[in-house]
Amino acid sequence: MEFVVSRDPRLLIQSLIPSLSRKALSGPVRGSLTSYHFWARNALFHGLGALGLQAGDKVLVPAFHCSTVVEPILHYGCEVVFYNVNRDGIVDFEDIARKVDSRTKAVIAIHYFGVLQPLSTIRDFCQDHQLFFIEDCAHLLMGESEDDPLGRVGDISIFSWRKFFPIYDGGMLVCNHASQLPTVSWDGLGGRLHLKIVKNLFGKYLSDRSPARPPVALNREKRESEIEDSVLEDETRKKFKSKAPHREFDALQLNWPMSPWSRFILENIDLSAVMQKRQEHSKFLNQALGELSGVRPWSTERVNGVCAWAFPIVAENRTDLHVQLRKRGIQSFSWDGVIHPSLPLEEFQDARFLYEHLVLLPNHQSLTREELHFIIESVRDVL
Ligand SMILES: Cc1ncc(COP(=O)(O)O)c(C=O)c1O
Repeated sequence: MEFVVSRDPRLLIQSLIPSLSRKALSGPVRGSLTSYHFWARNALFHGLGALGLQAGDKVLVPAFHCSTVVEPILHYGCEVVFYNVNRDGIVDFEDIARKVDSRTKAVIAIHYFGVLQPLSTIRDFCQDHQLFFIEDCAHLLMGESEDDPLGRVGDISIFSWRKFFPIYDGGMLVCNHASQLPTVSWDGLGGRLHLKIVKNLFGKYLSDRSPARPPVALNREKRESEIEDSVLEDETRKKFKSKAPHREFDALQLNWPMSPWSRFILENIDLSAVMQKRQEHSKFLNQALGELSGVRPWSTERVNGVCAWAFPIVAENRTDLHVQLRKRGIQSFSWDGVIHPSLPLEEFQDARFLYEHLVLLPNHQSLTREELHFIIESVRDVL
């Protein structure tokens, strides 16, 4: 299905033309060792090596997660122990403390869609229990918290820049205390993969030049008949399955570096302009959606100074908001399709609530005011 409002930013011609103003790719945490990987999940896998974790060690992982966080840990040979996060997305220290034992070696905490974890408290907890702290910044571009750059407090941190830019791949590992980066036997990407990436980028560039349809002010009658049609289509083609953008973990890709095509595009991007746009859009959505009853922005703190992948809202009384928005042409998503099969969900009611009720809206740098209004109007319409 073609979405009227896409989840991803547009690929502009400026990003594809070689220019003199290219900047060396900067790491998100100045002064720390950074390595560039194809996916952030690969960065996590190699980060476990940088910390010196051994097969059989236990790693504490939040019950509210994407399975690509769990898979690399299992593949490394560690045991995953799930802990609770509350409905505001903040780690539950009591549950963590209950689950630490002599085999526990690390805790992962995720800054969900810009909801920041209490970094100094986690760091102190980890120091007291002699655990490594892995800071998952995959949903953040950059930002600060408690006067530290995000990604600096964890012993290691990971970033997934491919979520923020029109690139095919791109993850990062930041090692803050490890004395050296992990030794990776980097694989070549191979001609076919290079071709696939270039083809994908070119296709994206062409389709971004001619967006599906301009968002029109919601004409209720007309839209409803369109939506009915698409529901019929939906039943046969299952196109609205509202999964998060998700690619399965593949151990054969663990040693892939970030592709030169992603690096090329990233070197041409004005990071501060992107951050500013995303923050502006989040603020705008926050204000407008904060006035509606039936939904609430997941956190209001986050909109100050942090640049998040998507704008999270909670629909307390319904579980289909993201599906309804997709039917209206907005590429919203939830995390209901990315739960790792080993999670005993019935033991984690707060995580279950978030999987069912948290909806992620586009907030990317290419959105126009018209598109933002269309999102807001559509949410109001569904409610
Ligand atoms: C919290 C979190 N960490 C890590 C990842 C892995 O990122 P990547 O898809 O770049 O491997 C994801 C993927 O969505 C994620 O949501």
